[in-house]
Amino acid sequence: MYNVVKQFEKLKGRQDIVILGIESSCDETAAAVYSGGKILSDVVASQVEIHKRFGGVVPEIASRNHTLALPNVVDEALKKAGVGLNDVDAIGVTYGAGLIGALLVGVSSAKALAYAANKPLIKVNHIQAHICANYIEHENLKPPFLALVASGGHTSVVEVNGFNEYKLVGSTTDDAIGEAFDKVARLLGLSYPGGPNIDRLAKDGRNVIEFVKKKKTDGERISYSGLKTAVVNYIHNCKQREEEYDVKDVCASFTAAAVDPLVKMVVKNVQNLKTDKLAIAGGVASNSYLRAKMNEAGKHYGFEVIMPSPSYCTDNAAMVAVRAALSAREGRNLAELDLNPVGSLGIGGDE
Ligand code: KG4
Ligand code: ZN
Repeated sequence: MYNVVKQFEKLKGRQDIVILGIESSCDETAAAVYSGGKILSDVVASQVEIHKRFGGVVPEIASRNHTLALPNVVDEALKKAGVGLNDVDAIGVTYGAGLIGALLVGVSSAKALAYAANKPLIKVNHIQAHICANYIEHENLKPPFLALVASGGHTSVVEVNGFNEYKLVGSTTDDAIGEAFDKVARLLGLSYPGGPNIDRLAKDGRNVIEFVKKKKTDGERISYSGLKTAVVNYIHNCKQREEEYDVKDVCASFTAAAVDPLVKMVVKNVQNLKTDKLAIAGGVASNSYLRAKMNEAGKHYGFEVIMPSPSYCTDNAAMVAVRAALSAREGRNLAELDLNPVGSLGIGGDE
């Protein structure tokens, strides 16, 4: 009989909980062990090379490769941390948002492990986990603060009012910022994932192309679909007129057009929340222009900008384990063994 309620209750308030985190929401298969404010191991098996030739993530192929990689990734994470499954207090797993088939692999594996070892299973919201990556290297960070999640699937400005309190206050009206980076990169013939390639080329480019007329944004909603179309049209027109275009300038101008409105949105919300802290998160938070612009805004408007190292910005299981530990400390998010993945889980949607 699987009954872990009492075990889970005993974790309340403890700082030294040992958590095994599992992540499989997109194309990284990851496992990590976290305890007492320290990451004991952090293993990521990336499928980037597999998906590169398709120009993007193929969901079915991602699921199949998670199935192949996950047992070894979990073993390696436990081995590197020097613990066995029995030493783990609880297992945290990403159950949304993400690709449903990919999530299903992580969730099913975590359920099997929890059942076999009789350990509590904690459901983890992937977007919240991205935000929690900030606690790894900034142990003094405490809510309230404002967070920006900029990834392949999300562009969200979130008020973090407690370790388990998240409120969405701003987002895009359509595509996510990372998706726009990847699409524009593809258009320019750069390989997947496009974000890091655009970042690299933009450093030597000039922000001289005005893709969309600068509007007074209301600081609440941003569209990336329109920006993407504007870049498509620009390149198409250049080709039709048989004019050369400078890929580096396209990268620099696109990056500025994508990031600058986000800076505005963040500044407005920092002022609304009356906080002096902004934490950034998600794959696009490793973008060098975005990091520099957020720092600049922080200096100008008087707020501190907290950011994870680039490897904690992109998908990893360390952030999942940290998120799960924070849930366990407050006795929240215990999952039953009938837990199902939720592809379109919202930021506050886990309780
Ligand atoms: O957070 P993440 O690893 O996965 C999701 O949850 O989506 O984010 C992946 C996204 C991809 O779109 C990738 O192109 C983008 O993050 N990305 C970047 C950079 N590094 C990763 N975008 C811009 N500049 C970067 N340096
Ligand atoms: Zn992610």
